[in-house]
Amino acid sequence: MSLLLQLAKHNRLKKIMNLRQTNPLFDPISLGGRSLSHRVVMAPMTRTRADDQTLSPTSEIATYYAQRASNGGLLISEAVHISPEATPVWNIYSAVREQGGNVSGIWTETQTENWANVVQAVHAKGALISCQLLHTGRIAQPDITRHPLVQGQDVPLPPVSSSATPVGRGNSPGDYTWDQPATCPRALEADEIARVVEDYRRAAQNAFQAGFDFVEIHAAHGYLIDQFLNDGVNKRTDRYGGTASNQCRFLLEVVEAVGSLKGFDRVSVRLSPTNRDPVTGQQDQVYFDVTDSDPRVIYSHAINQLDDYELAYLLLTEPRVGGLSADPGASVSAVVKNSAFRQMFKGPLIGAGGFTPETAQSAIMQGHYDLIAFGRWFISNPDLPARLRLGAPLNVYDRPSFYGGGAGGYTDYPDLTGTMGVPGKYTLMDQRDVGTSLLNQEDS
Ligand code: FNR
Repeated sequence: MSLLLQLAKHNRLKKIMNLRQTNPLFDPISLGGRSLSHRVVMAPMTRTRADDQTLSPTSEIATYYAQRASNGGLLISEAVHISPEATPVWNIYSAVREQGGNVSGIWTETQTENWANVVQAVHAKGALISCQLLHTGRIAQPDITRHPLVQGQDVPLPPVSSSATPVGRGNSPGDYTWDQPATCPRALEADEIARVVEDYRRAAQNAFQAGFDFVEIHAAHGYLIDQFLNDGVNKRTDRYGGTASNQCRFLLEVVEAVGSLKGFDRVSVRLSPTNRDPVTGQQDQVYFDVTDSDPRVIYSHAINQLDDYELAYLLLTEPRVGGLSADPGASVSAVVKNSAFRQMFKGPLIGAGGFTPETAQSAIMQGHYDLIAFGRWFISNPDLPARLRLGAPLNVYDRPSFYGGGAGGYTDYPDLTGTMGVPGKYTLMDQRDVGTSLLNQEDS
């Protein structure tokens, strides 16, 4: 008997219908003039399942996204790389070291065509999809030079950054850490920055050609744009460094270039503005060793500037108190930390990072965010919006298969109706238990 029928059998449907009426996650909203019927967004997530030869999506990847598409919903793609220089080989993850696994780009025709297959599969289910564009800067190590797509070609190679500042290890529990020696990046020359901006523009053009509804510029999590934003990395003394306005210049040039294609209402940005707690000064979540002497100033400046463009949306990362914990019950940020930025950005604001079904609802009700993006729970629940609407139990995610190359932990999570995935393969968790272990710890 499917989970859905079991739920009905236990006579919970009456309660469920009440939930449906009151849950703000299911109020419609419009992004860039396009209508969504609910606010449960799939967060961008790298899953390293791309085709080894073409660094592009396979039919399995199209299936994965189609499984997670719902009528009137929004999916954000995994980070899609704009050039060989932008592309990491994710061998800092043990699963990738052991099983292999690649990420996609969108600089070649084949890559663009294969992304078009993904977009078609998602559109066929009535959902919208955003293409998250990424240049990883100093995180892309020289490994990519061995790839056949790059060998023998006259293309700029990694690692580059705002300055020749090498990545060190993270310094808080739950940080991404780098357990191998990292090559010191080359500081981009001022005239090369225009070339990188053009790489973004061309990649965005390919994304729109593939049919993506929006392009999301990944300016978060310690990658290239974040390496310009933060003065712990950016030591430049030219017009790209030294002041908040200079540190934001590269981001805004990318926004301008991408917005020139189809208008700014097809463009969005992701930022991770809380690498330090504004009250306690504690480092909340540091990505790849990227810090700023005063993050509040730099991100306020960036967000105020971005507000002028009337973007489709802005996605902000909440620092997760539980870090990258393996415990599904410890994945919650109890407090919304980015609320000060709400006043600065008037357009649709999406929050991501450690939300539970309950905290997602309250973040919207309290006006902190307009939509909530779920990451890990969307990996393990292809029909997450339906489950949240119904109050149904959630499949618990299998962390070891987040990265790596296989279909296990990718397309085999079952939905409620038993029409996809492998029914019964994964443990179930009551929605009310998500995150409780951490909340209890904090209470004590
Ligand atoms: C991520 N995240 C992420 N973020 C991003 O902007 N681009 C990316 O490619 C990835 N890749 C990625 C892979 C995996 C396996 C995970 C778990 C996460 C971060 C993601 O978008 C989200 O912010 C976090 O997962 C936190 O949200 P949850 O999981 O607490 O809902």
